[in-house]
Amino acid sequence: MRQARKLAVLTGAGVSRESGIPTFRDAQTGLWASYDPARLATPQGFLADPPLVWRWYDMRRAIVLDAQPNPGHLALSEMEEMIPSVVIITQNIDGLHARAGSRDIIELHGNIARYKCFENEHPQADVQPGLGEPPRCSCGSLLRPDVVWFGENLPPAALERAFSEIRSAQVALVVGTSGLVQPAASLPFIARHHGAYLVEVNPEETATTIIADCFLQGRSGEILPRIVEAMRDLKV
Ligand code: APR
Repeated sequence: MRQARKLAVLTGAGVSRESGIPTFRDAQTGLWASYDPARLATPQGFLADPPLVWRWYDMRRAIVLDAQPNPGHLALSEMEEMIPSVVIITQNIDGLHARAGSRDIIELHGNIARYKCFENEHPQADVQPGLGEPPRCSCGSLLRPDVVWFGENLPPAALERAFSEIRSAQVALVVGTSGLVQPAASLPFIARHHGAYLVEVNPEETATTIIADCFLQGRSGEILPRIVEAMRDLKV
């Protein structure tokens, strides 16, 4: 990693676990437990009941805004001091990499703190919390969170850049993702195919483990700071 000119990092829900961010399913507690995810996170579900979906994302956004980046997020941002180019490719919508100081982040699944309108994808800033139902864009369309719902395509520019960055990285670090959800799940395979050294950090074995050059088993909040420490001790 000290010799790499470019490090590409792919992250998933696991990297935010130690910040207390529940996954989609973990967040389905209490009243929310009975709802089919198709009612909460698809375009069809939104059109059927906009206030319901709006309130679900209000609840999850409040958790995210209350949370703090953990030592794993911070370690990734510190790697920028030692490697000329570090790009974070994340499936998370929580914005914690940016809050930890990482500067180059590709958000494959959007960001829960951003909004756009349903019809035309006009971006929208300054939406008040606690409205209970979606307000409208100046074009008349309802607003929605700027996240990728089930059945939707990933933002094409983000996806294209993710593929291009992973092809040119000397080291790829895959952290806290089960490697089951496409197309992000194919990124480690592409990295390996293009000659990157592949490191995985996860407490459990995943679909990626079998192709990893190095599997560091454990929590990202513990392992990533140790990688940074080891890199600082190395003279190159
Ligand atoms: N540190 C690192 N990894 C962890 C930790 C931890 N402390 N705790 C759990 N993990 C690992 C789990 O072992 C698992 O492999 O994080 C992974 C989480 O997997 P998923 O919940 O499947 O999350 P992810 O891979 O990000 O899922 C991709 O699927 O649900 C959709 O849109 C959602 O972005 C998400 C996508």
